[in-house]
Amino acid sequence: MVENVLEMQGIAKSFGGVHALKGINFKLKKGEIHALLGENGAGKSTLIKVLGGIHKPDHGDIFIDGEKVNIESVQDARSYGIGIIHQEIVLVPYLSIAENIFLGREPKNSLGLKDIKHINEQSQKMLEKLGLQIDVRKLVGELTIAQQQLVEIVKAISFNVKILVMDEPTSSLSNEEVNYLFKTMEKLRQQDISIIYISHRFEELFKMTEQITVIRDGTYVGTVETNKTTSNELVSMMVGREIENLYTRTPSVQNEEVLRVENLSQKGVFEDVSFCVRKGEILGFSGLVGAGRSEVMQAIFGAFPYDAGHIYLNGEELKIKNCIKAIEKGIAMVPEDRKGQGLILGNSVGFNLTLANLKNLMENKLFMSEKKRKKEIDQYVEDLRVKTASSDIAVSSLSGGNQQKVVIAKWLAIKPKLLILDEPTRGVDVGAKSEIYSIINNLANEGLAIIIVSSDLPEIINMCDSVCVMRSGMLVKQLEKSEVSQENIMRYATGG
Ligand SMILES: Nc1ncnc2c1ncn2[C@@H]1O[C@H](COP(=O)(O)OP(=O)(O)OP(=O)(O)O)[C@@H](O)[C@H]1O
Ligand SMILES: [Mg+2]
Repeated sequence: MVENVLEMQGIAKSFGGVHALKGINFKLKKGEIHALLGENGAGKSTLIKVLGGIHKPDHGDIFIDGEKVNIESVQDARSYGIGIIHQEIVLVPYLSIAENIFLGREPKNSLGLKDIKHINEQSQKMLEKLGLQIDVRKLVGELTIAQQQLVEIVKAISFNVKILVMDEPTSSLSNEEVNYLFKTMEKLRQQDISIIYISHRFEELFKMTEQITVIRDGTYVGTVETNKTTSNELVSMMVGREIENLYTRTPSVQNEEVLRVENLSQKGVFEDVSFCVRKGEILGFSGLVGAGRSEVMQAIFGAFPYDAGHIYLNGEELKIKNCIKAIEKGIAMVPEDRKGQGLILGNSVGFNLTLANLKNLMENKLFMSEKKRKKEIDQYVEDLRVKTASSDIAVSSLSGGNQQKVVIAKWLAIKPKLLILDEPTRGVDVGAKSEIYSIINNLANEGLAIIIVSSDLPEIINMCDSVCVMRSGMLVKQLEKSEVSQENIMRYATGG
């Protein structure tokens, strides 16, 4: 009897000079949920793309149900029952949800035309099975990132899959949505479907998986049974060293107020939001996805309207109409959606790093100091350990987590007075996380006022001096450091 549905042996893949995979082994049992774990840039997504027929491996063999197969295309992968939810959403924004689900395999009616009615009905049923109440005729471009991710999931499982791969499916989902997803995974497991699960969140791995395979720098490190391992063991397998302190926070709050927001409202989105941030303070914003946190932050940054209320920066009332003005005033924001708002993907790492800071890098009115620019780029690449072959390659070829580091560095470079970070460590591995936290802490100690919006509760609890909890567009509670706990935050966030 063949126990493994899938076996990958000695898979190697290079891109030019970059050896992304140097010989990876991976075995997947029938009906198990098996995690693939590794630092940003370790090669997880690349391995998955080999399995999905997107990349052709340079070496190595793939066996499905004990038989050697050749996966040359996405179609091939599907015909072997492999379904993949990729890390970066690949839906077509100007098509409806239903059209996206059936893209490339649209049923035809008796006239030979796309049978829209059938497509809509079938898609609606699939969504309902997952407990989602969204009209499938809606355009994908109008959905939130979380909703788009759920559509990806519905789409992947709508094919008859026996191996389902999820590459960081929860990175932009709320707790509730994550629970839906977990229930769905449980159902799939009962149907003997095997799942490869990629996530940087240890609590998810411990909750959902049976085995964990760790890879590092494109090499296979080992496979462990989940209930026989510890997070410490996993971390040292992943990074090859122990991380002593994930969170660094030496509070340095001063009296001087930097930002004051009074009764900020935008009809139907947020209402009567008031708070202030002082020099050296890290203020957290917590709440369920859709509570209005990101919109409030965007309003402060000039990227979202408000119809009532006041915003003051260093005592001066701001009437900001766009982000350029906000940046001039000293406000920087690391957005939640790095693809849409944070990076110009076709351009180089170096270009993106210095994009927001060009003004400070000018020699005079006309010329940029190439030396200064180069120095600054090298500094950030080193400080944040951005894994890139050189700063001249396109940012799109970096792994997901390394792209996130570039977005953060880009905004740090302008040395703002107020720094807003929206989900700063989403998709970032533990090693890089601890580096990002220590940088945030240093910035606060230098006197920056910092706001962190995050769904990662340990991050909020450990890094912030005080936490504002939002629910349905309202700031329902500001918790002092001593009151901050997981239970308290969830209680106010859910109203329970
Ligand atoms: N198309 C490509 N061209 C050049 N280099 C690439 C390409 N795709 C991936 N790489 C490189 O291969 C390495 C592995 O990247 P990969 O995306 O597989 O990492 P990952 O483990 O999925 O990381 P993350 O946790 O950040 O998603 C990285 O160094 C990356 O820059
Ligand atoms: Mg990846």
